[in-house]
Amino acid sequence: MCGIFGYVNFLVDKSRGEIVDNLIEGLSRLEYRGYDSAGIAVDGDKKGDTFIVKKVGKVNALKQEIIDQKLERSTLFDCHVGIAHTRWATHGQPMTVNCHPHRSDVNNEFVVVHNGIITNYRALKTLLESKGMRFESETDSECIAKLFKHIYDTNLKAGLEVDLNELTKQVLFELEGSYGLLVKSTRYPGEVCATRKGSPLLVGVKTNRKLKVDFVDVEFPEHDAPSSNNTSGLADGSSNLGLMPVAQGDNLRTSQSRAFLADDGMPMPVEFFLSSDPASVIQHTKKVLFLEDDDIAHIYDGELHIHRAKKSSAGEATTRSIQTLEMELNEIMKGPYKHFMQKEIFEQPDSTFNTMRGRIDFKDSKINLGGIKGWLPTIRRCRRIIMIACGTSYHSCLATRSIFEELTEIPVSVELASDFLDRKSPVFRDDTCVFVSQSGETADSILALQYCLERGALTVGIVNSVGSSISRQTHCGVHINAGPEIGVASTKAYTSQYIALVMFALSLSNDSISRSPRHKEIIDGLQKIPEQIKTVLQLEDKIKQLCDDHLNSQKSLLLLGRGYQFATALEGALKIKEISYMHSEGVLAGELKHGVLALVDKDLPIIAFATKDSLFPKTMSAIEQVIARDGRPIIICNEGEKVIGMEEKTMAILEVPLTVDCLQGLLNVIPLQLMSYWLAVNRGIDVDFPRNLAKSVTVE
Ligand code: UD1
Ligand code: BG6
Repeated sequence: MCGIFGYVNFLVDKSRGEIVDNLIEGLSRLEYRGYDSAGIAVDGDKKGDTFIVKKVGKVNALKQEIIDQKLERSTLFDCHVGIAHTRWATHGQPMTVNCHPHRSDVNNEFVVVHNGIITNYRALKTLLESKGMRFESETDSECIAKLFKHIYDTNLKAGLEVDLNELTKQVLFELEGSYGLLVKSTRYPGEVCATRKGSPLLVGVKTNRKLKVDFVDVEFPEHDAPSSNNTSGLADGSSNLGLMPVAQGDNLRTSQSRAFLADDGMPMPVEFFLSSDPASVIQHTKKVLFLEDDDIAHIYDGELHIHRAKKSSAGEATTRSIQTLEMELNEIMKGPYKHFMQKEIFEQPDSTFNTMRGRIDFKDSKINLGGIKGWLPTIRRCRRIIMIACGTSYHSCLATRSIFEELTEIPVSVELASDFLDRKSPVFRDDTCVFVSQSGETADSILALQYCLERGALTVGIVNSVGSSISRQTHCGVHINAGPEIGVASTKAYTSQYIALVMFALSLSNDSISRSPRHKEIIDGLQKIPEQIKTVLQLEDKIKQLCDDHLNSQKSLLLLGRGYQFATALEGALKIKEISYMHSEGVLAGELKHGVLALVDKDLPIIAFATKDSLFPKTMSAIEQVIARDGRPIIICNEGEKVIGMEEKTMAILEVPLTVDCLQGLLNVIPLQLMSYWLAVNRGIDVDFPRNLAKSVTVE
């Protein structure tokens, strides 16, 4: 998915080569999000020049292109803005012209990088074309660069001098849709504006001196929208396309950001890192400020100013805090593993432990989730719980729905965010809506969250990325603390979401004494999970062999599960198809006889989850039906549990430790994660970047 990176140095000498290397490094930290092309913009040799270099393919290809273009590296800059982007095609094919940065004109007067979608770009494009502007790309983003120039020129003609913040405000007034946006301009050398709406953006700050305060004041405009005469000629009188220049009054630089002044009141040497993702900032600085929707961060002369695109409304925060990121760089590197996915699979003993760390008192069987504690009485009174998510996160909801219903006696429905929105499902004030997301930035989930907020429901997030949109926009929630997940196929986030949801369900039913034996059983089970995962991970060699002997050449694979294991079957099938591109399908074992049985023969590989729970006899009967049709299933069962007389009729038996029924899916999913990984590696697939997929899907 698209990624933004920007680098600003002020009173810190950097050569062009160093600046370019910084931008390339920043982009490479965003690679895990999935993308198809990349580009950068830096200052040129002459005043008023900007170099733009773009390339389809990986960041390394862009690096090579910069070398091939013989970009001069030694010129020193003591004040400079560089911007960069990784693109994941939405409007227009992955082609060089469609890569960002986009420009306003052949002189590169305004250049922008943009994440998100401008929904009114067609109308803007038509109007700007009618004013003589020539578009080069098929993207929606290009109209933003053109709009900057058009409004700038319009102001100029009207004799109005606007600063970059004010200009940005005027541009935003015309835009509909979502954006994370950086703009740099030869008209405003050494300045950049960064703004967001529905797409994440943060500012990292690096300085040798201590910041005077750990916050930045927010500067509010007097009016909501530009308010003077329309001289642009774009206005149709009815739409947002007024493009009205506005006279400068007290909006000119009248304030100074207190955090960035030295004791003597002079500006201090400082570097700023602008990014859509903390992962690309952390190696430079841990001091970051997350922008809110409609914030405009204006950086110039070593100062950072936060303006609001809109007039303040009651209760709006008047400062943005500069936070300290707790993520370590080594947390986002591969270590001894070949792929991030493999690393993340093997991290699960630690990541599952970290999800529970400090939150479970195993001695007294008590759960304490700091993020939702105060909200539990309200949630307990709710009419129903709606869990909403996409992909793997949706499967973690399915996996825990049953234990939620058992422990809370509140009806629970589980929804795919896109379908929930398509149906415009009714939501009420006494509903609790739980949003589960690794990234916290998935567009469908965010839209569903906004939908529920508008209807007055209580919203709870179960999120991995601290500071992400879902984490910040929900009323309360639980961070799963699994650490950064970089492989596109989600693995450790699944097991941690699962545990966080079980802990949530346990907290909701804490008051009930009659349930205490069941609580104790589950909490004791949770305590053993990290060690038990270590045991399951030892199956790797056996699974690798199974792939080599039987599965690598197959075209299709079925997974059978019921009860708690239906979610495991769906998640296992998703892992296999997304990473190895092999068709696979999770089937509810009870539905086998209603259609799927027609597919069964001696060739089709079938994996059946036959671990011990109340449905075990029924699962065994489904396995018998498969065997009776010459099928040779792979059975996942509990250790020492002889699936009597089955050995010679099966392709393989994989034994996993026994745990409590509602936690068994945490162990059963691991062989499938390993299997999908080895199937993909054996097929020569770039496991961390499967084709057509992105880690964080920030478009609808
Ligand atoms: C918090 C701190 C943790 C500290 C602990 C000590 C954070 C991120 N966590 O952890 O570093 O060690 O206190 O007491 O600062 N939230 C949402 N939506 C979500 C996720 C979380 O609104 O999707 C909110 C929670 O309601 C809470 C805050 O974010 O207000 C932090 O949540 P979480 O990290 O889960 O809380 P703690 O485990 O208490
Ligand atoms: C994408 C990812 O499709 O989004 C999946 O490739 C993920 O792995 C899904 O499950 C949902 O993402 P998130 O961040 O909301 O959990």
